[in-house]
Amino acid sequence: MTSSRPLLVLLWFIHVTIPGLTEGAGVLPDGLNAAVGGKVMFTTTPTPGTTFQSVNWKFGAKDIFTWNVNNFPALGYEDRITFFLSTGSLELRNLALTDSGEYSVTIVPPGERPQPGNTRLDVYEPVSNVMVTSSSTELAEFSSVSLSCSSSGSSLSFLWLNSSSEVTGSDRVQITDGGSTLTIVNVTRYDQGPFRCRVSNPVSEGTSDPVTLTINFLEAQQLKMEPEVTGYLGEEVTLRYQFIPGPKDDIISQVQWKLKTPEGEEITIIVSREGLGAEGLGSEGLHILAKIITAGLFVLIVGTMLATTLFIIRKRYGPVPSD
Ligand SMILES: *[C@@H]1O[C@H](CO)[C@@H](O)[C@H](O)[C@H]1NC(C)=O
Ligand SMILES: *[C@@H]1O[C@H](CO)[C@@H](O)[C@H](O)[C@H]1NC(C)=O
Repeated sequence: MTSSRPLLVLLWFIHVTIPGLTEGAGVLPDGLNAAVGGKVMFTTTPTPGTTFQSVNWKFGAKDIFTWNVNNFPALGYEDRITFFLSTGSLELRNLALTDSGEYSVTIVPPGERPQPGNTRLDVYEPVSNVMVTSSSTELAEFSSVSLSCSSSGSSLSFLWLNSSSEVTGSDRVQITDGGSTLTIVNVTRYDQGPFRCRVSNPVSEGTSDPVTLTINFLEAQQLKMEPEVTGYLGEEVTLRYQFIPGPKDDIISQVQWKLKTPEGEEITIIVSREGLGAEGLGSEGLHILAKIITAGLFVLIVGTMLATTLFIIRKRYGPVPSD
């Protein structure tokens, strides 16, 4: 407990020696925000009933306005300042980014102690032209997509909306580049959006047009193969599969066969498009000629579905049948 007292004294000391660095102090309010091209009102709150002998306004160390029976605006401020004699308040117009900084006022009542005040003004470029571009708008389920948001303006904060709810990061959804890029690593059929980007700074905000993703997916389909097929060396054999289509009329445009040999090799055999025929995947199977090198595990891959057949080769004893 003995240490608490010096600490309090220190805090008090800091507070008193550097007031108004980020907050208003004395007769002025807390920090003010304004837009480029806009205006700001520095409203003073002097002790009620105060009459003024003089009022002086500064930007940093520079005098910008003095009232002393007459108005004395500094060079470059003549057309931008309106002074309110009733309170000592000041309006500053046609703001530029360079008007950001510390402002202070000293109100001198006749025969009394001056009433000081200071505050900070931050001028921002308003948000405009918020736009979202997508790496693609038509994609397959389980692929990835990146949306990036661009905007004019200063000190921008970004927020992504999926319909009306805010998008938060997860292992599937990454928000990077200060929030301006949204990457869906593993797209699901439910990620169609519409996605919008909302950009804000302390003086304005803007929202992009919606971007809707078209996600192609396979619905309630099944793929089956016999677990094991035996073929005889030198003879043709068919590796049969059964494809059960989903309620949606999906057209399978591509399938992939792989053969994993007992030696651990993996051979991609067919990437077929035309080979599926008019009926698509309904056709009966893969015809192969049984050779020593075709023994192994056949894997059929359709979209995200996968089925396997172990193909075993035997040698026939006796004459090979003629049919
Ligand atoms: C993508 O998500 C699906 C379903 O959640 C999952 O089965 C699949 O393994 C994921 N793929 C990747 C590359 O993470
Ligand atoms: C978008 O919203 C849908 C519906 O709530 C949700 O299923 C999906 O996961 C969301 N996607 C992202 C990227 O937030």
